[in-house]
Amino acid sequence: MDTKVVVIDREKLGMMANAAENSEAAKEAAAVWEAADREKLDALLLEAAQILRSGGLVAFPTETVYGLGANGLDDAAARKIYAAKGRPSDNPLILHISKEEELTPLVREVPEAARKLMKAFWPGPLTMIFSKSSIVPYGTTGGLDTVAVRMPSDPIANRMIALAGVPVAAPSANLSGRPSPTTANHVIEDMNGRIEMILDGGPVGIGVESTIVDVTGPVPMLLRPGAVTMEMLQDAIGETAVDPAITGPVAADVRPKAPGMKYRHYAPKAELVLVEERGQGSAGEALLAARALDETGEARIPQGPGDAVVRMINRLAGERLSEGYAVGILCTDETKNRYPQGVVRSVGLRGQEETIAHSLFAVLREFDDLGVDYIYSESFSRDHLGQAIMNRLTKAAGYHIIYTDEKKEGKSNE
Ligand code: TXA
Ligand code: MG
Repeated sequence: MDTKVVVIDREKLGMMANAAENSEAAKEAAAVWEAADREKLDALLLEAAQILRSGGLVAFPTETVYGLGANGLDDAAARKIYAAKGRPSDNPLILHISKEEELTPLVREVPEAARKLMKAFWPGPLTMIFSKSSIVPYGTTGGLDTVAVRMPSDPIANRMIALAGVPVAAPSANLSGRPSPTTANHVIEDMNGRIEMILDGGPVGIGVESTIVDVTGPVPMLLRPGAVTMEMLQDAIGETAVDPAITGPVAADVRPKAPGMKYRHYAPKAELVLVEERGQGSAGEALLAARALDETGEARIPQGPGDAVVRMINRLAGERLSEGYAVGILCTDETKNRYPQGVVRSVGLRGQEETIAHSLFAVLREFDDLGVDYIYSESFSRDHLGQAIMNRLTKAAGYHIIYTDEKKEGKSNE
């Protein structure tokens, strides 16, 4: 199959969408474009929408990661997604909608907590689990009676879904087991020749997949951390439970609430090990204190891991290098000059967690491309966006963490 790659100018489309939502400034800005421009953009997205309507697959950008879309009400189309990704078919898909009204036909009820969360975070990086209605096929939900629904804010995704006129089932557009794609090139690497079309909207904004909250029970439960953080959920709805699968390995006999969480996700080809100082997990408070200082004008960048972490990573890297292995080191701008050997990659600034979320998967993919055998990674705070970052990293590492006060390496449960 030939895959058609179509480049879409997200900014133009975003301004058009804003204009439609009647902000005066946006209206004016949009008005300067030729009508032909808008028609051209819509014509491209209409082509994608028609592929979806006729049962084909289109990869498209969202604000979190690129998605691999199919008509979510068409059992056969959903099955094609599993085939293209090489994904187990008991792992359910998220339905993407373009307007809140589109939720009603898909679910049995919309609980009060869900209404609050929609108001606070839609459109945006939040997926909610509802009891499904009869029009949602089991092929989409992996046989479950619940359905995951999300309303992305990305203007390309939003317009494409609106034009398709159906909910778009979409997992991340990577081959199963690879890190989620955050650029169109990542999607091309994994999906070229397997799907009808790829919409290239440039790099995504957030870089980690949406937050998932199950709203079917008496207390909403966080199933996957993302850019809508635990703290933000608690602010919006109060008490929120956490699925234990988020923080530790899942025992073979336990079925996690989000079936996808049981697979060894985001796995780089190399053996990835996190190095951490005991107690570093709660370093989020130090980070917040540093941010507060920033705001009062007394700029102070958090120092990141202690010397012990840098020393330990350098020692481990040195040992593997002397054994003839290729070694990658995952660190941040604050420490990148302190690693004299190995392939050193910064994922961003420790003081700005968004930058780390944004680059994490791209750096893991780069290590794959470079063919390193071992990756030693610094670890991060587990608060706020750090919870999502550490969830992805610890899963990618198969929960292998080395503490700086350990004599020997050992597996740990976080
Ligand atoms: O940001 C995102 O959510 C991206 C973009 C494309 O929207 N999508 C994404 O999809 O990450 P995927 O398929 O890679 O991850 C979906 C996760 C899986 O862990 C799956 O098990 C869980 O959502 N999930 C889907 N439906 C569910 C349901 N009914 N109950 C519990 N978990 C569900
Ligand atoms: Mg995925």
